[in-house]
Amino acid sequence: RPEPRREDRFSFGLWTVGWQARDPFGDPTRAPMDPVHALERLAALGAYGVNFHDDDLVPFGTDDAERTRILDRFRKGLADTGLVVTTATTNLFTHPVFKDGAFTSNHRDVRRFALRKVMRNLDLAAELGAQVYVCWGGREGAEFGAAKDVPAALDRYREAFDLLGEYVTDRGYDLRFAIEPKPNEPRGDILLPTVGHALAFISTLDRPELVGVNPEVGHEEMAGLNAAAGYAQALWQGKLFHIDLNGQNGPRYDQDLRFGAGNVRGAFWVVDTLLAGGYDGPVHFDFKPVRPETEEGVWVSARACMDNYLILREKVTAFRADPEVQAALEVAGLPELARPTLAEGEGWRELAEWPLPDVEVLAAREVAMEHLDQLALEHLYGVR
Ligand code: GCO
Ligand code: MN
Ligand code: MN
Ligand code: MN
Repeated sequence: RPEPRREDRFSFGLWTVGWQARDPFGDPTRAPMDPVHALERLAALGAYGVNFHDDDLVPFGTDDAERTRILDRFRKGLADTGLVVTTATTNLFTHPVFKDGAFTSNHRDVRRFALRKVMRNLDLAAELGAQVYVCWGGREGAEFGAAKDVPAALDRYREAFDLLGEYVTDRGYDLRFAIEPKPNEPRGDILLPTVGHALAFISTLDRPELVGVNPEVGHEEMAGLNAAAGYAQALWQGKLFHIDLNGQNGPRYDQDLRFGAGNVRGAFWVVDTLLAGGYDGPVHFDFKPVRPETEEGVWVSARACMDNYLILREKVTAFRADPEVQAALEVAGLPELARPTLAEGEGWRELAEWPLPDVEVLAAREVAMEHLDQLALEHLYGVR
């Protein structure tokens, strides 16, 4: 079996392995994790990079002297382990000040404070070499219809991204933003709940080229959607700036299982989609080792995210290379779909002159889609 290597560009959020497993019903089961310890263990497992919220590294409210000390130690940890900061993000959800949102809080001062918090961490992200800045708006939303004016909130959301786009441009940072959709949790309903909503929102921005998406497998599945299809459309639109891989079992609370657990079949198609679309950003995991585990289980879970990606990559590659699959794709009409519907120079006039085909013959054509999907399952089940 292949081992994770730096070229695979696996990255982890510090908050994933460092999650203390506090949940709405119970206290933490694990001790706080020193970020430098996380760097050492992740590097030893074969990871390439890390991602962090400002507060994962420098606790909210830390004074400047202590902040400098923490960051110096972290920079040394990066240098010692060779890990790269691929991505950074802002915690705009833990502190009670964000109880009704950050960029879209009903209170103007909260919105202004949130922007200042992001600007400060953008400076650090740029300095540490991050190229992607993830924006997950977990508190941007509401529980009740009248509690949030959605069009006004979207105006404020747009205002925030326009300002941040101007900020990175004026500062000359090589940073792009990736919006992470999620349908609900912690808010009852979150704004920009799916990849589709986020893509449509991005098209309204002043600098749409600076903003893409960071789809999380589990979040799309919480919305009952096919995650691979969302990744495919984001790639098609040139907007897949980052990915959050994990596992989920259908529409329920956000499980954040290790990648490859939960909907295994969905994970197979996600990897297939990423390979087919030439995704070349960090292969990032956003998971939570389950609450009963001790720290040992955390590292088993982190390693398994990478192992499962590599296993699925092998299976997907074998599936695509299988001559029987290629024949089935032909019968199912996939090469035909790649052909434009109109010939060179044709328009609606020429189409109107086209002699209509025998629709009964067309309706009766073979498609072999059951066969094709069974081949995929047999590759996944390991019997081919
Ligand atoms: C969640 C989200 C977060 C974000 C993270 C980065 O459901 O909790 O996925 O983990 O990815 O805050 O912005
Ligand atoms: Mn989560
Ligand atoms: Mn999640
Ligand atoms: Mn996430």
